[in-house]
Amino acid sequence: MALMRKVPLPGGGAMPAYGLGTWRMGESKREREAEVTALRLGLDLGFTLIDTAEMYGDGGAEEIVGTAIKGRRDGLFIVSKVLPGNASRTGTLRACERSLKRLGIDCLDLYLLHWPGAHPLDETVDAFETLVRDGKIKRWGVSNFDTGEMEALMRLGAGKTCATNQVLYNLNRRGIEFDLIPWSRKRGLPIMAYSPVDQGRLLGHAALVGIAKKLQASPAQVALAWLLRQDGMVVIPKATKPDHVRDNAAAATLALPREIVAELDRALPPPKSRKPLEML
Ligand SMILES: NC(=O)c1ccc[n+]([C@@H]2O[C@H](COP(=O)([O-])OP(=O)(O)OC[C@H]3O[C@@H](n4cnc5c(N)ncnc54)[C@H](OP(=O)(O)O)[C@@H]3O)[C@@H](O)[C@H]2O)c1
Repeated sequence: MALMRKVPLPGGGAMPAYGLGTWRMGESKREREAEVTALRLGLDLGFTLIDTAEMYGDGGAEEIVGTAIKGRRDGLFIVSKVLPGNASRTGTLRACERSLKRLGIDCLDLYLLHWPGAHPLDETVDAFETLVRDGKIKRWGVSNFDTGEMEALMRLGAGKTCATNQVLYNLNRRGIEFDLIPWSRKRGLPIMAYSPVDQGRLLGHAALVGIAKKLQASPAQVALAWLLRQDGMVVIPKATKPDHVRDNAAAATLALPREIVAELDRALPPPKSRKPLEML
């Protein structure tokens, strides 16, 4: 079952294939309790990965995560991200310290550069390697990197230790199937698929709704199961409503028959040519 399943990492070890997103959390005091409750419910249901970032709620989402994981950090895989504007050699080290403090932990399982920015990439990578040596992060990766940017990263000496690339990917946004996914698979590099239900936009799609009915599942579950069936794919839906968290947890056991996958391909087809990486 995908809640327990792990995806192998290029440098050895593995990461959970399914996790909890946190964008839009930590933005309002009124929502705080509901957000902590949603994350704790996710952990109770068996999720072990939480994806967050210093950007979300200006550090507020990391604080929500910190509260939710208090006393139960063991066995969890915590991911955070440094903003490109902070990703200089010393800025990255400082940003990581701030994230660890907000999260209330000593070490991140994975630390990502949120998107390519103006600071030279080799400086960010040097800082990541320093953080690994200092025991502040277990491994590092990138986010919103298109194929050309991944190639530039690989040309850096330490670039090859990159653990993942977190990008926009769902049934509505299949552009990366043309070259970024094949490129990554060839190198054993997992993709983390963000906005897996396209922030809700996907869920009213007539074909998806019809297929979900046929399978006695929800449209979100079909969209998530479609991603979870792919090798080397890590999927991180965000949900605050308890019913959504439960719905998403149950998607881990939904198998999609081959003819359903073909029906989805007809309704929401894969790309026929290269498209620049989309980003939200
Ligand atoms: N690296 C990046 O640049 C980047 C960019 C975007 C996102 N991310 C990460 O990826 C995570 C997921 O992406 P996202 O938050 O953009 O979008 P998403 O997970 O595709 O969609 C979240 C929205 O879908 C709703 N939802 C979730 N499960 C549902 C279900 N079973 N049925 C109906 N509605 C459901 C949520 O509602 P409720 O919250 O009301 O339950 C929320 O409004 C983020 O939270 C973040 O951790 C990373």
